[in-house]
Amino acid sequence: MPFRITPTSAPLGAIVWGLDVDGISADEATELYQAFLTYGVLAFRGSTLDQRQHVALSAVFGENVMHPITITIDMQEPAIIVMSANGGEAADADDPGADELVGVIPWHSDMSYTEVPTRGAMLRAVTLPDEGGDTAFVDTARVYRLLPDAMKAKIRDLRILHSYNKANPAQTMVKADQDLFPDVIHPLVYEHPELGLPVLNISPNSAKAILGLPEGEARELLDHLIAFACRDEEAYVHVWEPGDLLLWDNWRTIHQACGHPKRCKRVVHRTTLHSDLKLGEFVSA
Ligand SMILES: [Fe+2]
Repeated sequence: MPFRITPTSAPLGAIVWGLDVDGISADEATELYQAFLTYGVLAFRGSTLDQRQHVALSAVFGENVMHPITITIDMQEPAIIVMSANGGEAADADDPGADELVGVIPWHSDMSYTEVPTRGAMLRAVTLPDEGGDTAFVDTARVYRLLPDAMKAKIRDLRILHSYNKANPAQTMVKADQDLFPDVIHPLVYEHPELGLPVLNISPNSAKAILGLPEGEARELLDHLIAFACRDEEAYVHVWEPGDLLLWDNWRTIHQACGHPKRCKRVVHRTTLHSDLKLGEFVSA
C-alpha cells in the first residue's frame, strides 16, 4: 500500500503514514523530498524502523554526516548520535528529584553556533517516557513573512552573533565542553537556497547579540524577535508515539526538546544531514 502524507493542523509539519522504507522508488523519494521542503517537518508514523533503516531513510534527504560533538556518537554506527538525559536512565521513584524536568533543549536550530549549520536531522524514538518528551517546531521562513514590512526593512541587513558558550549551559541532553566552538557571526536574515524564501536566523538558544545597532536597541530587538518567533500558535508540537521518526529542515525551522520527568527514561537516535550553506564567519576572522 502506498504511503500517505497528511499535513498537521499547525502552521508547519506533515505526517507520513505507512512508508515501506525498504521499497522506496525514485519517484517516491522525489515526493518525500518535496514534502520535506513543503512542510519543513515530516513525522514518519506506523513504520517501525531499526537503526539500519533509520540511516537509509535519512539518506533519502541528504548525506548523513557524523555529528561534531563526538561524545554522543554510537560507535557501532557513526551516522547516529544517541540522545538521552540523566545518563539514559530513569531516576528511582523515591529520588527527591524524580519529578524534575530533564532532557530540555531550549529553542534553537541545530549547530547555529557554527559557520555551516546542518541541513537537517532525523530523530528515531528508541525509548519514550511515560510522560512528556515532546519536540516542538516553528517555521522561521513563515516567522519572517509575518513580520511587519517596517521590521523586515530594519533587520534585512543586520547580523547576529551566535554563541555555543551561550547555548551549551542550558542543555541537559547533549552537553559538551565549553569553548568547543568559537562564536560566529551570521546574517540575521538569509535566503533558503532551495525555497528561495527569506528566513529569520534567530536560533534563540545561541543568539547572543544583534550587531549594527546601539546595544540597548539591539538587546530589545533580539528579545522582541525571539518572543515573536516562539509563540505557541506558531508551533507544531510533536507528541511521540512508539516507532516515530521525525525529520526537519534545519534551514527554515527552530525546535525545542520540551523535556520529561527524571523518573522516566527517554532515548532517541539522531542522524545529521550535510549542509553546504555557509552562513557564518568566526568573530576573529
Ligand atoms: Fe536540536
